[in-house]
Amino acid sequence: MSGDRLSVEGGNRLSGKINVGGSKNAVLPVITASLLSSDPCRISEVPKLVDVEVILDVLADLGARAAWSDGELTIDTSLLSNYEASDEMVSKMRASILVMGPLLARMGKAKVSMPGGCAIGARPIDIHIKGFEAMGATIRTENGYVLAETPGLKGARIYLDFPSVGATENLMMAASLAKGPTVLENAAEEPEIVDLANFINSMGGRVRGAGTKIIKIDGVPSLTGCEHQVIPDRIEAGSYLIAAAITGGELVVENVIPDHIKPVIAKLKEVGCSIDEGESSLLIRPSSRLISADIKTLPYPGFPTDMQAQFMSLMTRARGASVITETIFENRFMHADELRRMGADIRINGRSAVVEGPSDLQGASVKASDLRAGMALIIAALAADGVSEINNARLIDRGYDDLVQKLNSIGAKIKRA
Ligand code: EPZ
Repeated sequence: MSGDRLSVEGGNRLSGKINVGGSKNAVLPVITASLLSSDPCRISEVPKLVDVEVILDVLADLGARAAWSDGELTIDTSLLSNYEASDEMVSKMRASILVMGPLLARMGKAKVSMPGGCAIGARPIDIHIKGFEAMGATIRTENGYVLAETPGLKGARIYLDFPSVGATENLMMAASLAKGPTVLENAAEEPEIVDLANFINSMGGRVRGAGTKIIKIDGVPSLTGCEHQVIPDRIEAGSYLIAAAITGGELVVENVIPDHIKPVIAKLKEVGCSIDEGESSLLIRPSSRLISADIKTLPYPGFPTDMQAQFMSLMTRARGASVITETIFENRFMHADELRRMGADIRINGRSAVVEGPSDLQGASVKASDLRAGMALIIAALAADGVSEINNARLIDRGYDDLVQKLNSIGAKIKRA
């Protein structure tokens, strides 16, 4: 794997055109959903990310075979031979838990290492478990593994205590082969949920209401293979928009579904940028002066938690005080310490951070705590005076395909050390 440290020379305006890849958070559940059928599935617009490699390793451990041909991924799960996702795999990426629903539906059992917490929070899976039990699975934990078994899943009416993205996805996949109808209430509404529902429906599934709080799934006896194109990554798109805004550049971001990042577009306009929306692209023009704005992260269609760190970086350069409230994860402000090292003025008070700006940012050696924090540090470094070292850069490769090349192609000066 390439270097774990990036050096970023600040002060260069980003401008030109940048292309967004397929969505990480859509492709991971789509890949695990291919376990629902013994026919091959063909998936296009798959981003080349470390996390995609990890989920394909998990599927390989289960006996699935994945092959790339001219940029498309074909997954063949006809020879499924195992129902266990090892702790080695799950500890690399907690989204491995998304194999549990399909394995329960396809094989009647699943053994998945209990996903640990991560930098941004404990991230339990109680909502997943409660849903599986409602569908007739028996679940127990043993030696750090979650063991799930069922003589056959039955449809159920399930109320999610929190609109968990992963739980909605896991339960939707399990319900697609259950006996009878399932209703998920208080479901997550993210675009990635809709993409997964479309994938399952093109396999012959019967999912209705994805993208709303109530999702109805009529279980079917079996599902076929299918072809699917993954939606563009709304968080990658939003990250590039903010990188342009903080450097005062004029940028066209291509391969975007503007509807998917309305909250980010609204906030960028509020802080003074102008944004023209095309069919599948956005043009951002910088503002002469950025002004402060408050954000509160919320489940979709609210402001996405995955854009909070990047927005905090931007607000260090805005005039006034911005209050940033993180309601989704309990510990997602680690980037604030690193931004302070660059000269930012940020005060944390529980779930809220107050950013006073504008601060003149100086280059510094900083550390990424998670992939979005890493992107936030790159964004700040682009606007800092001097050179910054971003450590733990490998974390950023988990969610951004070809980031250094893409940013350098629009005027950044980034080197992998
Ligand atoms: C998905 O994680 C995304 N990951 C995350 O993106 C994203 O931040 C998150 O959704 C929220 O939008 C993928 O899609 C692979 P959740 P997920 O279940 O499914 C609590 C990135 O940077 N919760 O919606 O794990 C949980 O602790 C990543 O791309 C329970 O309490 O998120 C958290 O506080 C980071 N019990 C909140 O819900 C449960 O059973 C949101 O979690 C499940 C979740």
